[in-house]
Amino acid sequence: MNIVLLGAPGAGKGTQASFIKKNFGLIHISTGDIFRENMRSGTELGLMAKKYMDEGRLVPDSVTCDLVRDRLAQDDVKKRGYMLDGFPRNMFQAQELDKFSKVDACIDIDVAVDCLMDRICGRRVCKNCGESYHISMLDGVTVCPGCGGELYQRDDDNPKTVESRLDTYFSQTAYLERYYGDQGKLRKIACGDLGPDEVYQKIKACLLELE
Ligand code: AP5
Ligand code: ZN
Repeated sequence: MNIVLLGAPGAGKGTQASFIKKNFGLIHISTGDIFRENMRSGTELGLMAKKYMDEGRLVPDSVTCDLVRDRLAQDDVKKRGYMLDGFPRNMFQAQELDKFSKVDACIDIDVAVDCLMDRICGRRVCKNCGESYHISMLDGVTVCPGCGGELYQRDDDNPKTVESRLDTYFSQTAYLERYYGDQGKLRKIACGDLGPDEVYQKIKACLLELE
């Protein structure tokens, strides 16, 4: 099964991907994570992407599409299927993806805009295992509850960059709902104020139907 996770910054794509990976075994491919790994190791790709990410703009399509196409060609993905987190982010990327792979469904994580800023600015990520938490769940604990690793805040999780990321999402990405809706592949998950586990129960039901 191949799925696309759609949703605004902070909607919970990464959080849900981690549940789905454990239960369904799909390979999690996050373009944002790939760029951040490259930034950490100082590659040319990382240096180039940083400039766009710091401004909350999209990294150029040619770079991102090549990267995803290469990753999807690998054996683990072919064998186990994938979930794409953060790709596609505009119509061009969606059309390119359809040229090199077959998407079975688009899971649209629908969260009210007014809680996104708080979620993102309160996010802390584990340097060791990559799991993300909200400060309200941590109760003052400063290490990862899962593995004891160091927690950090992403460079682009500051109010100014988040404003810009949200603008980019609503002007360039949100209409992909329609693209996948027209193909009969859209599965909208209305999250309201449900916590991560409850949201996952809805997604799980949806994926079991698709299997
Ligand atoms: P990317 O890394 O993809 O970031 P994003 O889309 O902005 O998404 P986030 O990672 O911020 O949010 P999320 O939905 O994963 O939320 P999470 O689960 O962590 O992209 C970053 C940048 O890279 C882009 O701006 C762009 O520059 C570049 N880029 C990436 N892909 C690209 C592409 N295809 N083309 C061009 N450029 C690209 O949850 C957020 C917080 O909320 C956490 O603290 C979590 O604990 C909490 N939370 C989650 N679920 C719940 C819940 N149900 N209730 C309460 N709290 C919750
Ligand atoms: Zn950890």
